[in-house]
Amino acid sequence: MDEKKFYITTAIFYANAQLHLGHAYELILADILARYHRSLGEKTFFLTGSDEHGDKIIRTAQKEGLTPQAFVNLNVSKMKELIATLGISNDSFIRTSDSKVHWPGAQKMWKALEASGDIYKATYKGLYCVGCEAFITEKELVNGLCQHHNTAPEQIEEENYFFRLSKYVPELKRLLESGDFKITPRSKVREMLALLNTDAEAILSDVSLSRPEREIPWGIPVPSDPSQLMYVWCDALSNYISALGYGQEDEKNFNIFWPADVQVIGKDIVRFHALLWPAMLLSAKIPLPRELLVHGFVTSGGKKMSKSVGNVLSADEFIADYGVPALRYYCAREVSPTEDWDLTREKFKEVYNANLANGLGNLVSRTLKMAEQYFGGNIAGDAASVPAVGAHTSAGAGDVTFAGLNIPYIVINDILPRYHKHMLAYEVNKATDVAWELIGYLDQFITDYEPFKLVKTDKEKTEKVLWGLLYGLREVSNMIAPIMPETSVAIDELLKSKNGEHEGEIIFTTKAPEQPLFKRKD
Ligand code: MSP
Repeated sequence: MDEKKFYITTAIFYANAQLHLGHAYELILADILARYHRSLGEKTFFLTGSDEHGDKIIRTAQKEGLTPQAFVNLNVSKMKELIATLGISNDSFIRTSDSKVHWPGAQKMWKALEASGDIYKATYKGLYCVGCEAFITEKELVNGLCQHHNTAPEQIEEENYFFRLSKYVPELKRLLESGDFKITPRSKVREMLALLNTDAEAILSDVSLSRPEREIPWGIPVPSDPSQLMYVWCDALSNYISALGYGQEDEKNFNIFWPADVQVIGKDIVRFHALLWPAMLLSAKIPLPRELLVHGFVTSGGKKMSKSVGNVLSADEFIADYGVPALRYYCAREVSPTEDWDLTREKFKEVYNANLANGLGNLVSRTLKMAEQYFGGNIAGDAASVPAVGAHTSAGAGDVTFAGLNIPYIVINDILPRYHKHMLAYEVNKATDVAWELIGYLDQFITDYEPFKLVKTDKEKTEKVLWGLLYGLREVSNMIAPIMPETSVAIDELLKSKNGEHEGEIIFTTKAPEQPLFKRKD
C-alpha cells in the first residue's frame, strides 16, 4: 500500500520586519499538525518561507541604506533563528528571491496561465503615488493628496498583463458551495461567497498580474517580457509549488506532495488564498489544495498588535521568561485556532502556573518522587492490575461514568479516540484539553488512593497505583509530543519504559527530576 502523505504550509512571511507573536503562532500551529501527522507515520512535508519582493521591501531597504537583497538576507536570517528557537520542524524554507528554486516555478505557473489563454495585455490607468510607490484609489485621498505623503498622485497609464480571474468565478462558487474546496472555519466560505455575490465589480474584475519594472529590478521577470515584473501575489502564491520543485528539472516532490492537505493562513489573506490562488491553479490545470485552515489574530490588550500602538509582543520575551514549551503550550491550548485571541503577560503567567507548574509539572514530580522513594524507581506491571479510579465522569462522554474502570481502560477507550479525532480535525486546542483531562484523572487517582499513605499498609497495591500513574504519564507524554516536543522527551527520559516479558507488561526505571519541569512564577 502507498504510504499516506501529508503536505502542510504556512503563509510566507514578509521579509520587511521582525516576526512577532502572531507569526510565531501560525508557525507553532502548523508545526503541531506537521509533527502529529509525522507521528502517524505519514510521509510529511512542512513548508514555510519568506516573501521578499515588492515596493515595501525596496522602500524599507533604501531607508536602511541597504540593497533589497542585503536587507532581506538580514531579515531572513533573523526569521530562521526564531523558527529554530521555536522548534519548528519545517522540511524546507522557500525564499521568493531565490532565482534557482522559486523563480522557475513562478515562471512555469505564468506560462501555464498564458497557455490557457488567461493572460492578456491591457492599459492600466490609475493614480500613482511616488512616495508609496503604489497605485492608490480616489477614496484613499485626503483633499486630493496622498495621506501618507501629502503629495498629489500622478495619473499613470501603463501596460500591464492581466489575468482573467472573471472566467473562473462560476467554478470558484461551485467549489466553495460544494465544499470540494474546503475552508475552515465555514464562516469564511460564507464570507467569500458573499464577496463573490455582492462585490462583483471589485472582486471579479480581472487582476493585474504584472507591472513595468520601475527604478530597481526587484522581482521576477515575466517570462515572455522581461521589461515587466510579476505582481507580488502571483509571485508569492507560487511558492507552495515551486518549493516542491515545480518548474525545475526534478519535480519529484511536486508529484508526491501536491495537492497540499492543508494550508495554514491568517484571516487577512483569505481572499488571495480562497479566490486568486485557486483560480490560478484552475487555469494552470493543477489540482486545488484540499483545505485552507484560517486562524484568527493575536491581539494584545484587546488591540491589534502594531508598532504604532506600541503593543507588539515578541515571542522572545515569553521564551526568555517561560521557555519554548510554555509558549507552544499556550498557543496550542489557550487559543481557539479559528478565533481572535488576546494575550497579556498576566494571563500567560496565570495559565503557566495553573497548568504547567502545578498541573503537569507537579504531577510528574510527585509521581516520580514516590516511585523513587518506595521502589527505587523500578516498577513493573500491566494494565489489568491497575485499580479503578473513583466516580469521575468524562467531560467528553457526557453521562458515562468511569467508576469501576481503570486508567488504561479510560485512556484507550475514551481519551485517545477523542484526542485523535480533534487532532485530525485540526482542533489543536481541544486535543490539548484532552491531554489535560488525563492529567486531571491522574491527579484524582492520587487523591483516591493516597499512595503516600497506602505504602505503609499495602506495598503491593501501591506499586499497582504507581504503575497506573506512570502508564498515564507515558500517554500524556505521547499526546504532548507534537505540542511540546522538548517536554515530552524530558518526561520519557525520566520514565524510561520498556516492554516486559509477558504480554502487556511495561517496566519503568524512573528517575525523579532534579528540578521541576516548570518552575512556579511569582
Ligand atoms: N507575505 C504575505 C503572505 C503571502 S502567502 C503566499 C503576508 N505576510 S505577513 O508576514 O504579513 O503574514 C504572514 C502570516 O502571519 C499571515 O498568515 C498572517 O495572517 C499572519 N499574521 C500576521 N499578523 C498576525 C497576528 N497578529 N496574529 C495572527 N497571525 C498574524 O501576509
